[in-house]
Amino acid sequence: SREDQPNTDIITLTRHVLSEQYKLGAAATGDLTLLLTAIQTTSKFIATNVRKARLINLVGLAGETNVQGEEQKKLDVLSNDIMINSLRASGKTAVLVSEELEDAVIIEGRYKGKYCVVFDPLDGSSNIDAGVNIGTIFGVYHIAPGSDGNISDVLRPGSEMVAAGYTMYGSSANLVLSTGNGVNGYTLDAALGEFILTHPNIKIPPRGKIYSFNEGNSMYFHPPVVSYLNSIKYPPAGKAPYSARYIGSMVADVHRTLLYGGIFGYPDDKKSKSGKLRLLYEAFPMAFLTEQAGGLATTGTKRILDIVPTNIHERCPVFLGSKDDVLDLIRFYKEAN
Ligand code: AHG
Ligand code: MN
Ligand code: MN
Ligand code: MN
Repeated sequence: SREDQPNTDIITLTRHVLSEQYKLGAAATGDLTLLLTAIQTTSKFIATNVRKARLINLVGLAGETNVQGEEQKKLDVLSNDIMINSLRASGKTAVLVSEELEDAVIIEGRYKGKYCVVFDPLDGSSNIDAGVNIGTIFGVYHIAPGSDGNISDVLRPGSEMVAAGYTMYGSSANLVLSTGNGVNGYTLDAALGEFILTHPNIKIPPRGKIYSFNEGNSMYFHPPVVSYLNSIKYPPAGKAPYSARYIGSMVADVHRTLLYGGIFGYPDDKKSKSGKLRLLYEAFPMAFLTEQAGGLATTGTKRILDIVPTNIHERCPVFLGSKDDVLDLIRFYKEAN
């Protein structure tokens, strides 16, 4: 294809995932592709509601509190309902875990499938009313061999996920996905209603120039985090300090980190003993993507993807991004012990 001509051979997400599945040969049943099609549909549906939110009275609070003690926004509840309905109807799921639902949903009967999906239906709720980027995060497990599909199928280390991704609702809707063979980014062509491959084989630069923390929590931070942040803000003579970028939507902060490099962190601290971000549907999928893009994801002392969850809503400290930046942070934790 010529560079100066319109592209007539676009690669849709479905086409791309199918071609990846073909490479696996007989092992692939197409079920994962169908599940990912359902997830794509939810992202398109949520994206269109996000675009219209201000116009159709979809901003503001829903009036209920979720299991984390957060006041739910209308879009949190709507996005959750969209995902539960679509994932159940796909016929490919057995267990669903959502930030907005206290208990896991176990699919029974004729709709039951072999995959489990853990998700944050709407990430960055505090940014909705200002029109700032928000997103959806998801992780996918295959039920364990011999399992009938129950809670134990999602209380497994993130390294056992078969796919993970997010969709960012920004100036365009971007879906970033890994099925365990690298990371690819797709942009929604709203006229076609298709996600088109626009960011093939995303690799995080080995070192970045940006740090992304909520420094408003500095007075609660533990010493290794304080020392690390000081080291990048007050570097040795001749080196430039890092730039700060913090949106407050994990999807947007991680998206930028994947593309530009640097480090994103939400530490545990004196106030939040396990940090803020949730292991299953925030930390695991983002750690999976980060590692697949060549970066690192740690709690400061251990690899996030190795954690074995005991509770579907548990939290964990998160530091992820460029390999060399995360290694620097880990060094501060080692020196502190
Ligand atoms: P959610 O909107 O799904 O509850 O997630 C909010 C998370 C995450 O998006 C972000 O990284 C973090 O909370 C921001 O927290 P602070 O406002 O404490 O910085
Ligand atoms: Mn929330
Ligand atoms: Mn979130
Ligand atoms: Mn959320």
